[in-house]
Amino acid sequence: MQERAHRGFTLWFTGLSGAGKSTLSSRLYALFRERGYHTELLDGDEVRTHLSKGLGFSKEDRDINIDRIGYVARLLARNGVLVLTAAISPYRDARDAVRDAHEKDSIPFIEVYAEAALDALAERDVKGLYKRALAGEIPHFTGVSDPYEPPTHPELTVRTDRDSVDQSADQILTYLQRQGLIG
Ligand code: ADX
Repeated sequence: MQERAHRGFTLWFTGLSGAGKSTLSSRLYALFRERGYHTELLDGDEVRTHLSKGLGFSKEDRDINIDRIGYVARLLARNGVLVLTAAISPYRDARDAVRDAHEKDSIPFIEVYAEAALDALAERDVKGLYKRALAGEIPHFTGVSDPYEPPTHPELTVRTDRDSVDQSADQILTYLQRQGLIG
């Protein structure tokens, strides 16, 4: 694999459960690796089995989770790693705090809103969680019985309920190229 010294960044996905954050971020992770970049993926589901083990889904716990992911992302990105994160990150303040910390260190922070209509997600229900949440079996389920605050000024919005994974990945790659963040 080709090794390159490169400026890192954090590409931060936000969006409802099932909106395609994990799928898209793992696609980009593979593409970055193929191209010889140092890259890491911090996926919500995985982080919650290690770094954030034991945390639940109260606002306080979600904020801690996001703060941890943001902290690790920033450390990696400032060492030249192309960091992808894929957590719901439902609260605007928590995301903005991560953005501010990156900007203080002059690390590019790219917020990508994986937008999909709740109806479409509940219909598809990949993990079977929406059905249970709508039946009242999962309290504090994002989008059903817990808030999701969409970003007001994301660098990018990908419409995952309308576009294919390839289309959304291309949209993101084009943006990164235009910004001079990848070759
Ligand atoms: S975050 O809010 O702290 O960013 P995170 O992305 O780590 O959430 O975890 C979300 C994943 O946890 C969902 O994709 C889903 O599989 C699972 N999950 C379990 N309970 C909930 C809940 N109450 N709300 C949202 N997701 C939940």
